[in-house]
Amino acid sequence: MKLWNPDSWRSLPIVQQPEYPDQQALKQVEKQLNDAPPLVFAEETRSLYKQLADVCEGKSFLLQGGDCAESFTDFNAANIRDTFKTLLQMAVVLTYGGKCPVVKIARMAGQYAKPRSSDFETIEGISLPSYRGDIINNFEFTEQSRVPDPARLMTAYHHSAATLNLLRAFAQGGLADLHQVNRWNMSFVAANPLKEKYQQLADRIQDALEFMEVCGINAAVAPSLRETDLYTSHEALLLGYEEALTRRDHLSGDWYDCSAHFVWIGERTRQLDHAHIEFFRGIKNPIGVKVGPGMKPDELIELIDALNPDNIPGRLTLITRMGADILPEKLPALVRKVQEEGRKVIWSSDPMHGNTEKASTGYKTRSFNNILREISQFFAVHKAEGSYPGGVHLEMTGQHVTECTGGAYGLSDEDLAQRYRTQCDPRLNADQVLELGFLVADLLKDARKKV
Ligand code: PEP
Ligand code: CO
Repeated sequence: MKLWNPDSWRSLPIVQQPEYPDQQALKQVEKQLNDAPPLVFAEETRSLYKQLADVCEGKSFLLQGGDCAESFTDFNAANIRDTFKTLLQMAVVLTYGGKCPVVKIARMAGQYAKPRSSDFETIEGISLPSYRGDIINNFEFTEQSRVPDPARLMTAYHHSAATLNLLRAFAQGGLADLHQVNRWNMSFVAANPLKEKYQQLADRIQDALEFMEVCGINAAVAPSLRETDLYTSHEALLLGYEEALTRRDHLSGDWYDCSAHFVWIGERTRQLDHAHIEFFRGIKNPIGVKVGPGMKPDELIELIDALNPDNIPGRLTLITRMGADILPEKLPALVRKVQEEGRKVIWSSDPMHGNTEKASTGYKTRSFNNILREISQFFAVHKAEGSYPGGVHLEMTGQHVTECTGGAYGLSDEDLAQRYRTQCDPRLNADQVLELGFLVADLLKDARKKV
């Protein structure tokens, strides 16, 4: 391998980075971060790697989800708990309905930096630098707020540490106990028929647990009944921050980006000769890369070779985000090429980012129908090509929001105003996630028949 260092990306072209007015202050914060403890540990990251190798081989399914952008103002225990419960709820529906183990990765505890399609935002004739996520600047539309502030890197680090602390406690300390399956019911709609369906599923699980208990199988002999593994992830966009948290593991001598277990490269920063590819090729974490409709088959193979030259299963997840209309046209050639060339990757569907639209009421939204359509077509393409549809990647929240239209309750463009809270992209709410969970479980069950 060509010489690599955590800072070797610095000599290459890079896009989507803030311009800090105070470079000295930035250097100081990066130094401080470099001295601070890692957020995750190499051993945990290796255990996720192994679980993802199983996904790659068709033995389990990947569920990745959370906020588009976490924010410092929405940072509280209730939000963390509710998004975690919403993930657990979807995971149990997929496990039970799809008859398949599910690997859970949260878009949490570090999802603070955002790429933007435009450097400026204009409101009523005033143009200001775009909001780039709370790790960089402030959402408020004033000149002062939009100046990139290095102190925010440290705040993001501390928020991530506290979020991780709570997630670890929830995952190991009772909330994730399968006996609590009733408590993960996150629906806000009292008369939701899916709530009833979920209740039936939860009752069947409770029955099974009681039966197993009688047979002597309980949490003492099977700890996975009581606790779960939950991993964290974010788009590793702000490379100064990622570099500062990259550490050499004493056991293996390998470098790990210890800001999260899993990090991915966004659609806008995956140029082959640019800084992000350079940084990612040297870290040993399992990684992802977004694959949009512009990707060509040969380019994809070059990208795979740069990021996973040893073709190790679990290392690389291709997160396709094409848009429901374009996917059937573009995805088959990519899947075919990867199959022909024998590359081992996980295919995961992000049905969110290719389906963003503007509602008649002016809100940025996504329709449930298009989200479901993209996922269904993703499964159909993989079925036709004989490859495994390994996962889904969702923007979702446990908060009671109205940001995506449609779903069983037919949220309309007018309804969006009721509880539109996101600072970035529209998220599925808990009812929409539950509904999607049952639909994806059916697709998964079908996909696994031949495995
Ligand atoms: C995201 O996942 O929030 C995102 C910006 O996605 P993409 O890079 O696919 O546009
Ligand atoms: Co987004």
